[in-house]
Amino acid sequence: MKMEYTKAPLKILLVSYPAQGHINPMLRLGKCLASKGSSVIFITTEKAGKELRTVNNITEKLVIPVGNGSLTFQFFDDGLSDDDPIRTSQTTYLPHLELVGKQFLSQMIKNESNTPISCIINNPFLPWVCDVAVENEIPSALLWVQSSAVFAAYYNYFHKLVRFPSVEEPYIDVQLSSVVLKYNEIPDFVQGFSTFSILGTIIMEQIKNLSKVFCVLVDTYEELEHDFIDYVSKNSVKIRPIGPLFKNPQIKNASNICGDFVKSDDECIIEWLNSKPPSSVVYISFGTVVHLPQEQINEIGYGLMNSQVSFLWVLKAKPPPDFTHVGFKPHFLPDRFFEETSGRGKVVKWCPQEQVLAHPSVACFVTHCGWNSSMEALTLGVPMLTFPAWGDQVTNAKFLVDVFGVGIRLGCGQAENKLVCRDEVKKCLSEAMAGPKAEELKQNAIKWKKAAEAAVAIGGSSDQHLDAFMEDIKARFKRYNTLS
Ligand code: UDX
Repeated sequence: MKMEYTKAPLKILLVSYPAQGHINPMLRLGKCLASKGSSVIFITTEKAGKELRTVNNITEKLVIPVGNGSLTFQFFDDGLSDDDPIRTSQTTYLPHLELVGKQFLSQMIKNESNTPISCIINNPFLPWVCDVAVENEIPSALLWVQSSAVFAAYYNYFHKLVRFPSVEEPYIDVQLSSVVLKYNEIPDFVQGFSTFSILGTIIMEQIKNLSKVFCVLVDTYEELEHDFIDYVSKNSVKIRPIGPLFKNPQIKNASNICGDFVKSDDECIIEWLNSKPPSSVVYISFGTVVHLPQEQINEIGYGLMNSQVSFLWVLKAKPPPDFTHVGFKPHFLPDRFFEETSGRGKVVKWCPQEQVLAHPSVACFVTHCGWNSSMEALTLGVPMLTFPAWGDQVTNAKFLVDVFGVGIRLGCGQAENKLVCRDEVKKCLSEAMAGPKAEELKQNAIKWKKAAEAAVAIGGSSDQHLDAFMEDIKARFKRYNTLS
């Protein structure tokens, strides 16, 4: 007896790579789909699950009501001890994850056969999920967790649709739609010199597997990236911009579950911000993976000491759980840093970033330009000082500064191997905090904030795309499961 697809809620599996920058957007998508009535099962590794359970009120396999639907977490063991050498590099960890992940997912699909799965969604770095979906005749989609412009860059690189730098021509510009990217502004995973070129390889696997997904969901919005959405759509890739997911009003009302791996003292941080005048604090964070050289931390430290601004600075205490960073050492701050900045600075291991960026005391954000941080700041109306390291961050920095008009360039990316000195830090901070440039950035950021709010409101462009996506799933699921 086949299920009555018209009446039963959609049952959607989300399979996430176990990193913060991937779990956050996937969990936000899960909450959106659940609040619109779906039964969502969120799957990632047990190692990430352990962190999530420690910090959040999450119990494995518990069905949590969210809006009109529900959310359940399920974690699989990757079979490796914490110090297993396979974890020390993505080159060894990613193939291992594929092996164990495929077995787990195939078995889980068999176990769930009494209530068929309507759709499986994965995020990048897990291209094999699409293969499992095809083998089991389940419709599948990709949640792309970076920008549409970066997606376009990878797509064009893979299909050789435009010229990219190569060994013979290392410094050529890349023309992507109406934007020209210099050799050091393209996502560097596709460059020979990238420290993480394995991530370029896995992204290419995903681009190759696009024929197996019926849709690519992107955590962006039409008003921000319509050129690139159109540009990629011309190649018959069905792109649906559904972001900024974190701003979706339905999830805010539906559930307070979050995907943090690190616990922070939220109340104390917000109280400290409350004690500061409006637009007076610089927020500094380099995301969850980037680890700057100690010398660079010193220069930023001295820049803050010399500039007299108030600041909230997130300094990571441990490496992320997806794999062990070889040689990770927590940073230390210059001598007399705490004495000299007493009363105007706060250094923490983690903070509630969305709340911090939304706080009226925050004037600007020194960021590594991960896509989640970029979207959060842009759509909360916060100007940025861009300090990218690698991957998509260098491309995001280019867009934040030159296309969206909300940033000042501070760092240039790891490949340049250039130390940004304390005077430069001080100069850029003062430019971003007050004066005509600061005003221009703020006005642009407010424009993007308003456009984002309209996109995620009921009937807005992102909301319509999300509804249309759910209709797409129903139509496809119907094809596979005709009533008997
Ligand atoms: C990684 C890559 O580095 C990035 O280039 C890619 O775009 C996404 O995957 P990550 O370095 O973790 O991302 O940065 P980012 O994308 O900005 O995601 C970090 C997330 O952690 C954000 O959602 C941010 O709000 C959250 N965060 C970070 C906190 O909630 N508190 C903190 O203290 C720091």
